[in-house]
Amino acid sequence: MKIFVASEAGFCYGVKRATKAAFEAAASAAGPVYTLGELIHNPQVVGRLEKVGVRAARDVADVGTSTVIIRSHGLPRATVEALAAQGAHILDLTCPTVKAVQQRAAALTSEGYEVVIVGDRDHPEVEAIAGYAGPAAVIVNSEEEAAAIPRAEKIGVVMQTTHTAAACLRIVAALLDKAPEILIFNTLCDATAKSQKAALQLAAEVDVMVVVGGRNSANTGRLAEICRGAGAETHHVETANELRAEWLEGVAAVGVTAGTSTPDWVIEEVVAKLKAWSLEGGEAARSKKRTP
Ligand code: F3S
Repeated sequence: MKIFVASEAGFCYGVKRATKAAFEAAASAAGPVYTLGELIHNPQVVGRLEKVGVRAARDVADVGTSTVIIRSHGLPRATVEALAAQGAHILDLTCPTVKAVQQRAAALTSEGYEVVIVGDRDHPEVEAIAGYAGPAAVIVNSEEEAAAIPRAEKIGVVMQTTHTAAACLRIVAALLDKAPEILIFNTLCDATAKSQKAALQLAAEVDVMVVVGGRNSANTGRLAEICRGAGAETHHVETANELRAEWLEGVAAVGVTAGTSTPDWVIEEVVAKLKAWSLEGGEAARSKKRTP
């Protein structure tokens, strides 16, 4: 069995930066270090952070005046202001790409555009962008939702950075008759687009795809959807322990990809287990040949 790893898989720039800084903050801070919500959507990394003292707070009040990390998804402006007002020491690790979308959304609102955010309204990145766009911003995540918004004089569109280009195109098309003036900003992240493209290419060439990443990671879930859409039998696992040998019976080629919140060590463990099974399978086949 051949094993291929997608050319772009695992930690993106924003997550790598935030994770590194969080471990450094834990090592240097005098008191506790908090994140508001989990730093990234990966339980294995969050577990390691907890071990070095980085705790996920549920509420602004839990943080007090301690160090608090703003994760790569960002936070709504009002939340950042509340943290500052209570004297928290803020370490802002919002991904620069996400920050640019927040600023874009705020600028569109101040220029009189009705802001439409294409994305998942329950995703923290989208909540944060909406917080910068203001209360009038509308979030849509399907053509039906886009078709249902009221007409306006001018609309400004931004997108959740990790959305798929195909879905955004369909949703934006459904917005076209909603205003005579529509400003559309392609705010999709390059890192996500590259990993989606690499996953799509690999999935078209192998029998089985293993997609590695947190079950709570939206971009990992999207990678799995993309691989299924390309026709590969696709399994989403968080760790090597979830791999099942029966998925690989009679399989000539397996591909591995991973979400942008999946660390290298988790991917390496998955690949190592697949390699070990592949060698065992080869050994078994060879000894069968030798047996009269
Ligand atoms: Fe930033 Fe793109 Fe990663 S927006 S957090 S580099 S997926």
